[in-house]
Amino acid sequence: MSNSIHNYILSKLQQRKDADNFRSLRITNGLVDFYSNDYLGFARDENLHDKIQAEINSRKGSALGSTGSRLLSGNSGYVEALEKFLAEFHQAETALIFNSGFDANYGLLSTLPYRGDTIIYDELIHASFHDGIRNSKANSVSFLHNNIADLEKKLNSVTGLKYVVIESIYSMDGDFAPLKQIASLCDKYQAGLIIDEAHATGVFGTGRVAEEIPDAKILAHIHTFSKALGTHGAVVLCSDELKEFLVNYCRPFIYSTALPFHSLAAIKCGYALMNEAKEKRGKLFSLIELFKQQIQSKENALLITSNSPIQSVVISGNKSVKEFAAKIQEQGLDVRPILYPTVQKGKERVRICLHSFNTETEVTKLAGTINSL
Ligand SMILES: Cc1ncc(COP(=O)(O)O)c(C=O)c1O
Repeated sequence: MSNSIHNYILSKLQQRKDADNFRSLRITNGLVDFYSNDYLGFARDENLHDKIQAEINSRKGSALGSTGSRLLSGNSGYVEALEKFLAEFHQAETALIFNSGFDANYGLLSTLPYRGDTIIYDELIHASFHDGIRNSKANSVSFLHNNIADLEKKLNSVTGLKYVVIESIYSMDGDFAPLKQIASLCDKYQAGLIIDEAHATGVFGTGRVAEEIPDAKILAHIHTFSKALGTHGAVVLCSDELKEFLVNYCRPFIYSTALPFHSLAAIKCGYALMNEAKEKRGKLFSLIELFKQQIQSKENALLITSNSPIQSVVISGNKSVKEFAAKIQEQGLDVRPILYPTVQKGKERVRICLHSFNTETEVTKLAGTINSL
């Protein structure tokens, strides 16, 4: 490596260290899990593990990898049947599987909105959408988080084809988008509505779109298998024509090797378990209530509680939030600080994820520890 490239890398790393947001990889430490997105414990479910193993064994001789992109050698009857199942499960016209939620969001937004169009997005959408917007030729403008009046103002003022991008449950605040109101505004202004259901999938059954606005005109909704499903990959649910459009134009779909058979088997088995997960969901929601009852408002922090598994304690400043999280970890409870630039400056937070496998004692200890800090 040339000296100047090496020096550039060092200076960029130092920049992160100076800003207290240097990222490094860690091995899971065996503390109580209050940080993963495994909301229903599927990733550690032995029954699911056995089912996936049996599904894989039932097709001995299948290629280990998919061997190519879907348009070349990576397609199969298995993946097409799975897409058909997913479309029916989520009550959509059709489905297209992507290798990750990031690919799906990035691919959709970087491909569909074109020069002269406008993407109107909630200010708290995920980085994958932001990168898609950055790579799109369309104009873009944000609206204030969950603010219908501001969304309407933007819908009124922008030009070209309009796209509105939201999450049904926001990944950092855990709050809910007002789906009905947003869908009816999009209808009024003829805007294409794109909804990321990453944190609702599984936790809210078939998802908030299918459960709350089954008749609304949605351009696309995206479900990831990487959170409550406990596995990996994602699906875009949309019209037959949009699916064909993506197959023809969406570069992360066209130019990447398709998911291997064992990933597809895991997704299929995860969905089978989802139908039986009523008890796990009940347990999760009772722990969410317990946490909300026990956590007290604080002078030194802003609490963002929600009716989803995601709860946040906002402590401004990267250094302060890291110290706050470390004190909780010292009690055997694993939470992770979310730093700027992942969240807005001043909105750094400890992001707490509750799970069906946490116990009442653990949740009580977590709330008590936060109350005492
Ligand atoms: C709201 C949201 N959308 C998309 C993604 C990306 O999904 P995946 O992890 O499957 O790439 C995430 C993951 O962090 C997310 O929180």
